[in-house]
Order: sequence, then C-alpha cells, then structure tokens
Amino acid sequence: RLLIVDFGSQVTQLIARRLRELNVYCEIHPFQNVTPDFLRDFAPRAVILSGGPASVPDADSPRPPAEVFDLDVPVLGICYGQQVMMQMLGGLVIRGEGTAEFGRAFVTPSQPLDLLQGWFDGPESTGREQVWMSHGDHVSRLADGFEVYATSSGAPFAVVADTDRHFYGMQFHPEVHHSPKGAKLYENFVRLAGFTGDWTMAGYREQAITAIREQVGTDKVICALSGGVDSSVAAVLLHEAIGDQLTCVFVDHGLLRQGEGEEVAKMFRDNYNLPLIHANEEELFLGQLDGVSDPETKRKIIGKLFIDVFQKHADAIEGVKFLAQGTLYPDVIESVSFSGGPSVTIKSHHNVGGLPEKMGLKLVEPLRELFKDEVRALGRELGLPPSFIGRHPFPGPGLAIRCPGEITREKLTILRRADAVYIDQIRKHGLYDDIWQAFVAILPVRTVGVMGDGRTYDFACALRAVTSVDGMTADYYPFTHDFLGETATRIINEVPGINRVTYDITSKPPGTIEWE
Ligand code: XMP
Repeated sequence: RLLIVDFGSQVTQLIARRLRELNVYCEIHPFQNVTPDFLRDFAPRAVILSGGPASVPDADSPRPPAEVFDLDVPVLGICYGQQVMMQMLGGLVIRGEGTAEFGRAFVTPSQPLDLLQGWFDGPESTGREQVWMSHGDHVSRLADGFEVYATSSGAPFAVVADTDRHFYGMQFHPEVHHSPKGAKLYENFVRLAGFTGDWTMAGYREQAITAIREQVGTDKVICALSGGVDSSVAAVLLHEAIGDQLTCVFVDHGLLRQGEGEEVAKMFRDNYNLPLIHANEEELFLGQLDGVSDPETKRKIIGKLFIDVFQKHADAIEGVKFLAQGTLYPDVIESVSFSGGPSVTIKSHHNVGGLPEKMGLKLVEPLRELFKDEVRALGRELGLPPSFIGRHPFPGPGLAIRCPGEITREKLTILRRADAVYIDQIRKHGLYDDIWQAFVAILPVRTVGVMGDGRTYDFACALRAVTSVDGMTADYYPFTHDFLGETATRIINEVPGINRVTYDITSKPPGTIEWE
C-alpha cells in the first residue's frame, strides 16, 4: 500500500482519488501521526508527501520523519512536499518574492525521466503540458543527487528527481482537474513503485471483513440505520463479518417519504435477515416539533431526539461495546486537515456524530477509507439492489426541512403524495440517474385557484431538482417545459390540497439545495 503524508493541502484527497482510479490502495495520514514507529508498522511500498499551506523556511513548519527517506521506497513530493524533501535532504528553499505562481502554468521537459514518460508525447502534444501551480516559496538549490527534468516560467525546478533513490518532486499539483494529463504522472509513479493495480472492491470486502472481525472480536455492535446508502452498506458489510453480534436500530422519525420506513425495514429483514429494531417514533418527534418553524431549531430537536431514542434501544441490548457508523473518507479528511480560518455554519447538519461520546462506545467505521462512489461499488459487490444504491441523498431531518414553517400532519401527507408523483414522473421519463437530488417542498402559503366551477384555496408547492457532484455546489436541472407542465397537472389532479406548482431554478450558491 501507498502512504500519503498530509501537510494540509486542500486537494490531498484528490491524490487518493487518482490512485484509487489506478486500483492502488492508499491511505492519507496527517503528518503529526506519521512517526518512525508508524512508518515501520505501515511499511509503505511508496510515499507521497502532499502539498500544504505552511512555509518550509519557517522554523516550525511541519516535516515528515527523516526515516521516510531511509525506507528504500520511491518518494514523491508535491509542492510543499517537494520543498520539504529538498530542504531535509540538503537543498535550499527560499521564500518567494516575485516568484509566486498561482493558477495555470506550462511545463517543458529538459531531459527524459521515467516518471514523465508519455506525458509530453502523443499526437496532440505541443511539447509542453498545462499544469496547476499554487506556490509562493520555491526550491533554489537542489539536494545532492537531484537533477532538473522539467521547468516552468516561474519554477525552474518544476520536476526534479534523484533517479538512483527514486525520489521525485513536482512544484505543481498533477492531481487537480486543471493539470489535464496529471493522472499519467501518478500512473508512472505507481508503476515504477511496483504496484500492479490489483486493488478491487472484492478485495476490499474481504480485507474489511477481516479487519472488522479483528477489531470487534466477540463483542456486540449496534448500528444506526437511516435508510441512506452509507449506513446501509456499513450494516450489510458488518452483518457479513459478525452476523448476529450486530443489531441495527432504524429510528423512524415519521418524517420519511411515502412508504419509505416499511420499505427499508422490509429490505433488510427479507434480504439480509439482519437483526433490526424499527423504532417508530412519529408521535414523539412530531409532538416536539409542534409549532416550531425555525429551521435550526427543527434540526436541533430532531438531532437530540434521535440520540435519545437510539440510546434507549442501545441500552436495552446487553453487552454492546461498539457503535458502527457509515463515516466516509471525506468526513475523516475534513476533520484532520487544517484548512485555516473558521467557517460559518450555514446549516447544522444533523448526523449521529454526538453519539459515541455520550454512549461511551468504541467506534467501528468500516467505510472510513472509501469515497462515496466506492461505497456504492461496495454496495453493489454486497448485492444491495441497484435501485437502492442509486437513490438520491436524503437529509437526516427528512421532510421537516422540506416543510418550511410549522410542520403539521396535514402538510406532511400532502408533501408525501406530491413528492411520490414527482419522483414517479422523473423515473418514468428516465431522468432519475441524471439528477443528483429531486424533491418537493410544500410552501407555507395557500393560494387561490379554480378547479371545475369552484374556487380552491390550497397549498402551493415547489419542485426542486439539481445536478451536483458533491452537494457543495449545484445547478437546477433543465427539465423541458413539457415535462414540467405534465408534472404540475398530475400533482394538482392527484394530490388533494395542492392547487399551484412552481419550479425552483435557483443554483447553489446563492441558494441551498434544501429550502431550509
Ligand atoms: P444544502 O441544503 O445545504 O444541502 O445545500 C446539501 C446536501 O445536504 C443535505 N442536507 C442535509 N443532510 N442533515 C443531513 O443529513 C441535514 O440537516 C441536511 N441539510 C441538508 C441536502 O439534502 C443535500 O443533499
């Protein structure tokens, strides 16, 4: 396996991503954790030193342990990683004054190098390659054994290498989208490190099952099932590893979509024979939400009740020592990297993050190393139905945040029906998989309409459908007018209580995906 030492670059995850695409197994660890002992246990076949916001000339700037260079394995330093390697091996890095380079730059080769093979050639090659630079400091004197293999206008040492020891350094970021052929460099690096690209989901499944058994032993594990992809895949994987030592608790807050609670419970019971407590707590949740219209208050109430209910059921099972969570790789990285500056809370996303401290349980997180699409691939590997795996994301607080203003049972019933018609339309037109997320929000206004010969005074609703890659930014989905017209007609005809349908064409930013 390959070790990525993280110095806090915003794009370190993308390095992992590129390597996974090459079927190479890698792990990112923050530099603070990479001690000589850690290195010995990890026994990497190759090491990548990431970029980062620090400045090598500063006395207290972060360093990897010197032992990294004694492992007799290839080392690749990216940006800050290159500079720190150069400094530690006897070169010199100076603070950039007038030599900073940010954004697009072009790199030209100065002599052949195994790492650069196939990079500058090819039919469309112009003899130089576009890359993405983001550096203030730069290397000004190479360490012994290193030579320059490519340059850019602002970085005379764009690519350097000590070919005897297989140490490589690049001043740019080959992992980002704006270094279009950058993946080739990672491919060359892992090939020369001896990786054969045999890391697959089937392999991961086996490996994860062994690791879960080792960690858990004969103890009992409890898992909160939400009906979402992550917790479902985690539960099925755990069940395969430890069978009935696992109990899942499905906290049904009564804010799920039409038929969803029963569907989820049935799927796990019928297909997986998984020990499942279906905690139907609609009364409790809706009772506490009565009269509440502030979005953040809704989230806080739901989050707290969720923990209370889960804990009540967990306490009733004797000898539980572990809590399983479907934590994904991006969540892990976000919590270790130091991107600097406090960020503003736009919405306090409700999740089960507060559970472990409160309950004194140890954590099992079998998806910690996976990206979202890898979780889906693992789900397929485990035999979860494709329609289940491809489901749009659904927020923890459920329909509560699709019902701006006060939540009432009447509004929830109308919302469920309208949402079901809308999703049915999207599926019938074959659009479901092109859309990241689609739903209906019921608006807290009644408007006047006319149906038959009578006046109506019913709720208005808004349809939402967005495209996105990660939910961080989004654009509205460009339905045809025919589709929208047909859907509006169906909703008004089939859903009593709605007499007006609108389509939300706000992107994110400035809007958010959900209405609250
Ligand atoms: P926003 O509305 O913030 O949504 O643009 C981005 C993504 O996050 C989901 N979302 C939530 N998920 N708890 C969750 O678990 C929440 O409180 C929450 N709020 C929004 C939203 O559905 C979208 O996928």
